[in-house]
Order: sequence, then structure tokens, then C-alpha cells
Amino acid sequence: RIDESWIRALPKAEVHVHLEGNFTLVDLLDLAKQAGEPLPGPAATLFDVTTHHDSDGAGDLGAFLRFLDWECGLIRTPEQAARHAYTFAARQTASGIRYTDAIINPTHWSAWEGRVPELFDALAAGIDEAEQDGLAPVRLCYSLLRQQSATEAREAADWLAAARPRHVVALSIDGDERAAGRVSARFAEAFSIARDAGLHRTVHAGESSGPEGVRDALDLLHAERIDHGIRSVEDRALVRRLADEQIPVGVCPRSNIVLGLYDDWAQHPLLALRDAGVNVTINTDDPAPLGTTLEADWAVCAEAFALGHDDLAGFAAASIAASFADDDTKRRLT
Ligand code: ADE
Ligand code: ZN
Repeated sequence: RIDESWIRALPKAEVHVHLEGNFTLVDLLDLAKQAGEPLPGPAATLFDVTTHHDSDGAGDLGAFLRFLDWECGLIRTPEQAARHAYTFAARQTASGIRYTDAIINPTHWSAWEGRVPELFDALAAGIDEAEQDGLAPVRLCYSLLRQQSATEAREAADWLAAARPRHVVALSIDGDERAAGRVSARFAEAFSIARDAGLHRTVHAGESSGPEGVRDALDLLHAERIDHGIRSVEDRALVRRLADEQIPVGVCPRSNIVLGLYDDWAQHPLLALRDAGVNVTINTDDPAPLGTTLEADWAVCAEAFALGHDDLAGFAAASIAASFADDDTKRRLT
């Protein structure tokens, strides 16, 4: 088994991780107490709290996303939001991550409805403080929810283009594609505004959608990176296209297994995609509720797929190349 401390020492980026997926049990106990709200279920472990929320059991992406709503709903003040961003940067740094593209979807953060700019100011303040303390830089991907309307998406993109909130580098979409349907066309205008404003573009697709979701993200939204993207393996021409056009995929194997896409690690298409020439990265998605760290997941991948040190060094280099870090940062990391 490859040592986790060796993995931590590899210069690497994480490109698919949600700020919504960074509440540990201690964070939740603190925030719930401050909010005067009870925790759902017994609080012996974070898993208890997660599964007592309103899940039908493993594999329920909808319930998982509602749990993220509940967690983020506990963040109500700018100080709490800044602390959350700071803590996130500290945990990323502790995993040996030198740069992070972090997804933030304001629809989960119910206390900030109608004052999203204040939320982003607070997050940026936390990121700044973290960097001043020598922690690794975090940049933000503003994520729309699959269910949002064309108008909401356009208003968000207009705001990003006009205000250029600090540390935001990309527009994104996440959420449940099975529940929302094949609706990428609805977001085309917002993504074109983002593109014209010089923002990067990344889209959750090929997780709760099949290969058609990935094609739509490329054709209709001009995605530069695909979050998950694993179900592309069901379509050989699409895999060839991802390889030819060098579109990186932000794969999150543990998330896919916990949320029921694959029965076990050995069945996961991570290596099939890499071996077909796709720029594959390994990420956690939502480390706290999934009970993991990036180095733990890389170690499990190494074991499940018989990867050696060179393979992991390859994934580390791929993660930096796939990130939205500026060229100076990328050069510094490689
Ligand atoms: N938001 C957080 N985790 C997610 C996932 N795995 N799929 C879609 N949206 C998400
Ligand atoms: Zn995700």
C-alpha cells in the first residue's frame, strides 16, 4: 500500500471539491449550537447525522444534496462564512493540496438568499486570511443548480461578469441531472456570458446523466472541464473526443461508490478513462460527509487499481494541468 504521507508530499491540485462538502461533525455541532438547532439523528458520528437527515439510504443523490442544504443553512454570518473558507483551505493544505478549484453553489446557502455578494465577500476574506497564514490558495467556481431557470442563470452570469467577485475563476453547474432532465440548453446564454467575461467553465455531467449529458456540456456550454464525466465510458466516440480535445475530467471515485453508481472500486472506470488518453484527475467531491481525505482516496485507488508511484505522480501532474490556476501558479507547482 502506498504511504499516505508520500501522497501528501506530491505537489498536486484538487479540482472537484465542494465547499458544501467540508462540514465535519465538530463543525456541525458548533454551528448547530450557535443556530439553536438540533442535529438530525444521533451525533455519535457524521455518518449518523448524514443518514438520519432524510435519506432513503445509500445511492440517494437527492437526499445527499438536501443534507448539504441543511448544513449550509447553518452558516448565517459573514464571520462563519469566512471561517468556513479558512478551515477549508487549512484542510486542503493538510492533505498536501497546493491549489484548489472549489465549487460553491449559493442555492445551498439559504441564509444568503438576496445577498449572495456578501457571501462571496466573506468567503474571499477567509481565503485571503488563509493565504496570509501560508495556507494553499483556493479559487472559487460559482455553481448554478441544475434546477435553476434560464433567468436565474443569466442573472448570476451577469453579476459575475460585471462585479468580478474576488477569487471567482469559473462558472459551474452541479446538482441532480436525473431529477432536472436534459436541460443544458437552458444554461447556454449564462455560459456564453461567462466565456465572454474570461471566466472558466466546468460542468457536472456523466454522473446522474449518461454520455449525452457530457456531450451537451461540451456542445452547448463549451465546458473546459467535466466534473465526474465517468459515464462517458459508455460511449467510445465520446471518450475519444475527451482525449482528442484534452478535456480533463474531475473524477471522484469514492463519491460515485457511496452514491451508488458502482458497487466497488474495482468496477470504477477511472483507469479505463486514463488508459484511453483522457486527462483524468482524482478528487473527493465532498470529503467530510463521505468521511475521507484526498490522500486516503488516492491510497485506495492505488490499491484497487495496482497503481505505482509513477502512476500517482502522473495523476498529480494531471491535476495541476487540469486546474484553473493561472500559468504562474501552475509553473510554481510543477
Ligand atoms: N453537489 C455536491 N456533490 C454533488 C454531486 N456528487 N453531484 C451533484 N452535485 C453535487
Ligand atoms: Zn461534485
